Amino acid sequence: MKRKIILTTALSLIIGSHITAADNTTLKEAYAGAFKIGTAVNGQIASGRNAQGQKIAIEQFNAISPENDLKAEVLHPTKDTWNWRAADNYVEFGKNNGMFVLGHTLIWHNQSPEFFFKHDDGSDKSVEEMKEVLRSYIETVTKHFHGKVNAWDVVNEIIGDDGKYRSTVWTNSFKGDGDEIVKLAFKYASEYTPGTELYYNDFNVWRPAKRDGIARIVRMLQKEGIRIDGVGIQAHWGLNYPSREDIIAAIDTFAALGVKVMITELDIDVLPISKEGQVIGKSLNDPIYQLPEFEKFLDPYKNGLPDDVQAQLTERYRELMQIFYDRRDKIDRVTFWGVNDGMSWKNGSPVPNRTNYPLIWNRDYTAKPALKAILEIPGK
Ligand code: G3I
Repeated sequence: MKRKIILTTALSLIIGSHITAADNTTLKEAYAGAFKIGTAVNGQIASGRNAQGQKIAIEQFNAISPENDLKAEVLHPTKDTWNWRAADNYVEFGKNNGMFVLGHTLIWHNQSPEFFFKHDDGSDKSVEEMKEVLRSYIETVTKHFHGKVNAWDVVNEIIGDDGKYRSTVWTNSFKGDGDEIVKLAFKYASEYTPGTELYYNDFNVWRPAKRDGIARIVRMLQKEGIRIDGVGIQAHWGLNYPSREDIIAAIDTFAALGVKVMITELDIDVLPISKEGQVIGKSLNDPIYQLPEFEKFLDPYKNGLPDDVQAQLTERYRELMQIFYDRRDKIDRVTFWGVNDGMSWKNGSPVPNRTNYPLIWNRDYTAKPALKAILEIPGK
């Protein structure tokens, strides 16, 4: 770790001496030697059907995450069907462009097919049957991508805000024994794809109770001699939350465990309610919120982002990237959850059909002022 600090410092002095945003420097050039910088991509970008999105992804980023194409409901929608095409296209795109390629995600309660958990007659599978479902799925998928992806989000979002296991299809199918799921998932992944990095990934990890609940499972794996290489901090954050103190405490907590720390799904919500806090699971999708009086309040920037909000977004991205850059000795990667505003899940969550502005490139693929602000950080 110390060697990385010296190297990083030396590199940033060399690079920083002449870098300015006016150099047309890219994100991956500006942050070279600090940490990998990535984006989530979808099939449109990976295939080039979205040529403008693909151009930015190739120019600006040295790491990619699959927004949806490697999730269980896509790869294995029915017990007799495997769909590898979109996933293989994603991997090929990353490899062809010399990128760090993440696999996301093996075990997640969302976007998992129902047949994982239920027999044909609708009855629940036993815990023993579920252990085989977990093992065989991880074996098939990790062996298929072995040597092609650099890392896996092995388990995603299994801990709740209280630091305990969430009640989900996965934990319920193991009768609440989330420890067993986590241990088996990382054990099998390390056996079936040796050399591929293995991560735990979650949102709201800045909440102290959740942060400490995740730290517990990392220590549990380490104590059992089961390999875990990193923790992904999903940064689905807002203009006004979380605090820098909570963010820094989360980074420091996981770094202190000797694992890599990654910022994995960075986007900044600028819209009412969700700019103030994470609304997850209980989405505001009741039709009442689409009524004119609500829509006017909840979706105020349909015709463009006002300059003052643009300035807040720029400052928020600058603040966050400065926090990450100052902790580049602990942070291995920063990944934005998408290239441009038009592709973002935040347009539909927590309130459907809104016009959000969470990313660094606009809907027309022009860069926001935030790009210049964060490009200038390493040179300062
Ligand atoms: O592909 C189908 C399409 O065939 C169908 O016509 C259409 C309408 O039903 O749905 C399409 O699937 C959608 C999928 O995105 C691909 O666009 C799903 O409905 C939709 O739910 C899914 O949303 C994704 C969401 O995960 C699912 O939970 C978002 O794109 C994706 O950005 C989001 O990403 C997650 C991370 O994986 C984990 N962390 C949280 C993050 C945000 O939820």
